[in-house]
Amino acid sequence: MFLATKRVVQCNALCVRQLTRRYLSAEAAGNEAPRRGKIVFSGIQPTGVPHLGNYLGALSNWVKLQNEASAEDQLIFSIVGWHAITLPQKAKELSASRWDMLATLLAIGIDPKRSIVFHQDDNRCHTELAWIFNCITPVGKLRRMTTWKARLADSRNANSASEIDESMLNAGLLTYPVLQAADILAYRATHVPVGEDQVQHLELSRELAHLFNRTFVPGKKRFFPPPIADITPSKRVLSLRDPTSKMSKSSPDIQSRILLTDSPSQITSKLRSAVTDSTIGITYDPINRPGIANLLTILGACLGKTPSELAEEYANKSNAEFKSLVTDAVQDLFRGPRTEFERLRNERAYLEEVAKDGAERARVHSEETLRQVRQFVGLY
Ligand code: AMP
Ligand code: TRP
Repeated sequence: MFLATKRVVQCNALCVRQLTRRYLSAEAAGNEAPRRGKIVFSGIQPTGVPHLGNYLGALSNWVKLQNEASAEDQLIFSIVGWHAITLPQKAKELSASRWDMLATLLAIGIDPKRSIVFHQDDNRCHTELAWIFNCITPVGKLRRMTTWKARLADSRNANSASEIDESMLNAGLLTYPVLQAADILAYRATHVPVGEDQVQHLELSRELAHLFNRTFVPGKKRFFPPPIADITPSKRVLSLRDPTSKMSKSSPDIQSRILLTDSPSQITSKLRSAVTDSTIGITYDPINRPGIANLLTILGACLGKTPSELAEEYANKSNAEFKSLVTDAVQDLFRGPRTEFERLRNERAYLEEVAKDGAERARVHSEETLRQVRQFVGLY
């Protein structure tokens, strides 16, 4: 079975190369290049097991896009190790998370025969393009990114010395969104499935695409297409303990998030203790009842219904009865992926083969972009 996988992978790499060449040479010749389908790209950091927010806000959409893709669409999914080291990581834990994240992506249904799945840090085209983009990105733009401002605020809170300023933060945190733009544009991706927190980073990627085209591309042709953010309906899943903030990997309270690897009893306990309110009955009111609204969003995503439809259906349920319905749905949602993850994480040789093939295919695709970029910039 594995040999067959390898053959398909090699065939796909060849097809990608042929398609890319055809597309790029048509464009270089000044022809209106026939755009062949979407190029979907997304990434996730290998920093711990994904939670329900990652799954509903991004990963489930990756699988949906893959399964609904037309034959011409290309799908590229990356585990972004270089982004992860913008915050301190323990080497052994990072390495384990890197492989666990690959096992997770396969466990939820990313098919390495159909999609390119790889470790970002296995393809140097990303850092090379990031450097070139760094040289055209105004620092002021990066300082206005909400993620940077949040880091600055965190560091102020963590340090009693009120004099602390950005000189204490590393440069990687500031240029993080430039590397993200390079991830996307190295493949000249057109669609990027992400959660709502990434919208501003996507805007920067669009601006850098325009800026590069205007600055370096003869005739200001659209060499880099401005990528579109593809946001899921459950774009912001909230913390179970504080439904005014998003569910996040970094919260110290592990009861605030449901992990893809949680057992049914852990899921039950986390949802039972989810913060709601004392109003009787179920209504969808994100402003006044954020906890219940969040659970409605989660249940809606599990069942393919809108939160308002569900609120009508369950109007007379108590909070406890409603929580138990959400618990059943989340347990069902994660049952298959959890079992598959436990199986795959022990198949290290297989994971290494998938990562190697993925990186080779990613390099074929992006090296062609970088070859042209170097020409435009004068580095040849
Ligand atoms: P990260 O874990 O930060 O690498 O995020 C991976 C993906 O999950 C990104 O597309 C995020 O936008 C998405 N994401 C993270 N947290 C949430 C959340 N609470 N709700 C919805 N999407 C999320
Ligand atoms: N910044 C994203 C996050 O924190 C991860 C990421 C890195 C990404 N490169 C990307 C997402 C490219 C989409 C496309 O979630």
